[in-house]
Amino acid sequence: MLTVLVADDERSMQEFFEVMLVREGYQVSLASTSEEAIGKIERRGIDLVITDINMPKATGMAVLKRSMEVDPDVPVIMITAFATTDTAVEAMKIGAYDYITKPFRVDEIKLVIAKALERRTDKTELKRLKDEVSRAYSLGNIIGKSEHMQSLFRMIKKVAASSSTVLVTGESGTGKELVAKAIHAASDRRDMPFLSINCGAMPEQLLESELFGHQRGSFTGAVGDKKGLLEVADKGTFLLDEVGEAPMSVQVKMLRVLQEREFKRVGGVQDIKVDVRIIAATNKNLEDEIKAGRFREDFFYRLNIIPLHIPPLRERREDIPLIVIKFIEKYGLENGKKGMTLSSETMELLERHQWRGNVRELENVIERAVVLANGMKITPENLPDEIRGGDGGVAQDPWGASGAGVDLEGMLTEMEKKYLVMALQKADGLKREAAKLVNMSFRSFRYKVKKYGIEDQEKDDDEEV
Ligand SMILES: Nc1ncnc2c1ncn2[C@@H]1O[C@H](COP(=O)(O)OP(=O)(O)OP(=O)(O)O)[C@@H](O)[C@H]1O
Ligand SMILES: [Mg+2]
Repeated sequence: MLTVLVADDERSMQEFFEVMLVREGYQVSLASTSEEAIGKIERRGIDLVITDINMPKATGMAVLKRSMEVDPDVPVIMITAFATTDTAVEAMKIGAYDYITKPFRVDEIKLVIAKALERRTDKTELKRLKDEVSRAYSLGNIIGKSEHMQSLFRMIKKVAASSSTVLVTGESGTGKELVAKAIHAASDRRDMPFLSINCGAMPEQLLESELFGHQRGSFTGAVGDKKGLLEVADKGTFLLDEVGEAPMSVQVKMLRVLQEREFKRVGGVQDIKVDVRIIAATNKNLEDEIKAGRFREDFFYRLNIIPLHIPPLRERREDIPLIVIKFIEKYGLENGKKGMTLSSETMELLERHQWRGNVRELENVIERAVVLANGMKITPENLPDEIRGGDGGVAQDPWGASGAGVDLEGMLTEMEKKYLVMALQKADGLKREAAKLVNMSFRSFRYKVKKYGIEDQEKDDDEEV
């Protein structure tokens, strides 16, 4: 239960706040002097301070100052009878959350209190998450508290002690490269090079020459002898990224590297010996590739000595909050928004999303949200439509402090229109198809489209009945 400390020398004000706050479900602690208030603040356990500025002897300013020293994360709301902007400005400078001038409206103060406490709970939650991240839930730059990731961490540590070949599999953006780097960093090879090549990113001849090096004159443009990356990575770790894309010729040559730790430069005759730990990564199912005749079975078995699979993010949603916090911190720093937070509603949306692009997609979404956020808090408005869309963007308290009526019918109409237009677009303007997309009969679909005047997208199938 959240505890609110009210410091006011007027008994009537104390009573007013006590009744109101208890009714709102908070625990209340009262103080009649600033000394008493400071004493309570120092004993901790207060989640919000509401203090009158004008009290005999030490003023509410002293309460504010002490509270900021004890715990700057506890919001302080100042109450003043005289709207002297000077004191208000001074209070805000010291770090007051907000100030309210007497006489005030009950709904106004209720709203300020609710907002202050919401921020407070968000912050405490954030702090807890950060502690978790730095504690057990990371290995190198990889974050994860799910059982999947925890067992992956254990595997990485075990595997690191050997020089065995590792095959890392997982959908795009799950962190395969990160895992390869973590294996290297946890191994005795950590002070030697970690190099990698993307087997799908260049033509065959160039790939071979990059991997194995070449002798002068072995092909047009080979003006001098050149070491291959495998040679440069001697005593270190080499990542064969996107190995599923490797051309057959490279697969044959790499097979020999895996068996004998030996290869020839392109155009060379001499065997070159290396001591490299090979890690291969792919988002393809190599067994399918074998069946399709695109991947050598013998190469696969040589690679698949220690398979490490990283599950998609949607199968380990417990990891999402921790990863979100890390990225908010990272991009907050990069964008001059240190100490950025997010609302719990935003976090819920992020936890629910499908994340087809896995952690990379999540990272991009957070970077964008940090940049777009107006204040220091990321809200659902800063998320892309497809993430926000889930619940139709319904506000938690659509009435807010105003108590004004909500135009539910108008909102539903707007939403209906939006879906009709989207369905038409998806169906290339074919109403019959579009109607199916929104589970409507063709007749009612056509009727609504007419009614809302969404006529321009239509195509020639509307003649049918
Ligand atoms: N568990 C994680 N914790 C923190 N950051 C992560 C995690 N997994 C991935 N990332 C980050 O997500 C991004 C994508 O990771 P990475 O490049 O390793 O993915 P990948 O599996 O190699 O993807 P692709 O198949 O597309 O090459 C990187 O910026 C990486 O730092
Ligand atoms: Mg990768």
